[in-house]
Amino acid sequence: MSGQKVIAVLGATGAQGGGLVRAIQNDRTGVYRARAIARDPQSAKAQELAALGAEVVAADIDDEASLRRAFEGAHGAYCVTFYWAHFSPEKEMAEAAAMARAAKDARVQHVIWSTLEDTRKWVPLDDDRMPTLMGKYKVPHFDSKGESDRRFLESSVPATLLLTSFYWDNFIYFGMGPQKGPDGQLGITFPMGDKRLPGIAADDIGACAFGIFERGDEYAGKTVGIAGEHLTGAQMVAAFSRALGQEVRYNDVQPEVYRGLGFPGADDLGNMFQFKRDFNDYYCGVRDVAVSRQLNPALQTFDVWLARNLNRIPLPS
Ligand SMILES: NC(=O)c1ccc[n+]([C@@H]2O[C@H](COP(=O)([O-])OP(=O)(O)OC[C@H]3O[C@@H](n4cnc5c(N)ncnc54)[C@H](OP(=O)(O)O)[C@@H]3O)[C@@H](O)[C@H]2O)c1
Repeated sequence: MSGQKVIAVLGATGAQGGGLVRAIQNDRTGVYRARAIARDPQSAKAQELAALGAEVVAADIDDEASLRRAFEGAHGAYCVTFYWAHFSPEKEMAEAAAMARAAKDARVQHVIWSTLEDTRKWVPLDDDRMPTLMGKYKVPHFDSKGESDRRFLESSVPATLLLTSFYWDNFIYFGMGPQKGPDGQLGITFPMGDKRLPGIAADDIGACAFGIFERGDEYAGKTVGIAGEHLTGAQMVAAFSRALGQEVRYNDVQPEVYRGLGFPGADDLGNMFQFKRDFNDYYCGVRDVAVSRQLNPALQTFDVWLARNLNRIPLPS
């Protein structure tokens, strides 16, 4: 349809961007069309998006000229970075700055920046309740996103800062699903004590972002936090136990134990969970489930997400 408003979507073949492309293409009003940005437009995942009717274009976030071309003529742009592809806060900040410049140069009218808190505003570097990592961060993959907010706020392009939440999909892809303990019982491990973890189906992040683009001016210059539910570890294992028909235990470990688990990024995630635990009222407070549901009426609860995805969660035999 001609005259459609184009939303250029970074990470379109991934979790956040993919949800946004699907939300746009499934919207029956036809007001918007997704421009899916992928490094390889011929990849199977990119072609799935083309089959939904999305335009697919090539760009690499480390090539600013390609970003500018990908944003050219678009009404909106969804900007997300991929920390776990490189584990470098400096690279993430350079990529965010390039996205903000490219959006301005391409005269985009509304940008959504997928961000997280700069935790150093709550836990300064000299606060030794958690270790400083890489010399100048507390939670590197949070801090670099939060520090990049100003790139978007200082730009002339109206921007919405989108505070995302823990993806429940981490139980599928990030190795966080139930594991067997020494006694053979399944358990999930978080250093969250009895505090609540805001979580969301990854697909719902994009659907909420679409709601923000649709509302336009109402959200320009604003920060909005989203979540599907705020659940304690005990509530999550209760849901797992119901869904699996066997008891799943919550292993409530201390953050220092989590930091020492030995997988790449364990120290970063240990600090992250500690931040969420120690500043729980703030952290949950800014991620408003009711607002998320207004933006995306099909927002999934954890029970609904679990029922739809149980067979995709790897379980030990
Ligand atoms: N896991 C969580 O719970 C969680 C929660 C909140 C925020 N986050 C943040 O979410 C971000 C990642 O977003 P996501 O989960 O949506 O990503 P994702 O599912 O890992 O998808 C990444 C996609 O980005 C594209 N990509 C990777 N490098 C690229 C590059 N150099 N240029 C252009 N495209 C590139 C890839 O597409 P092509 O191969 O097609 O180019 C890939 O499909 C991270 O920064 C993370 O910190 C994660």
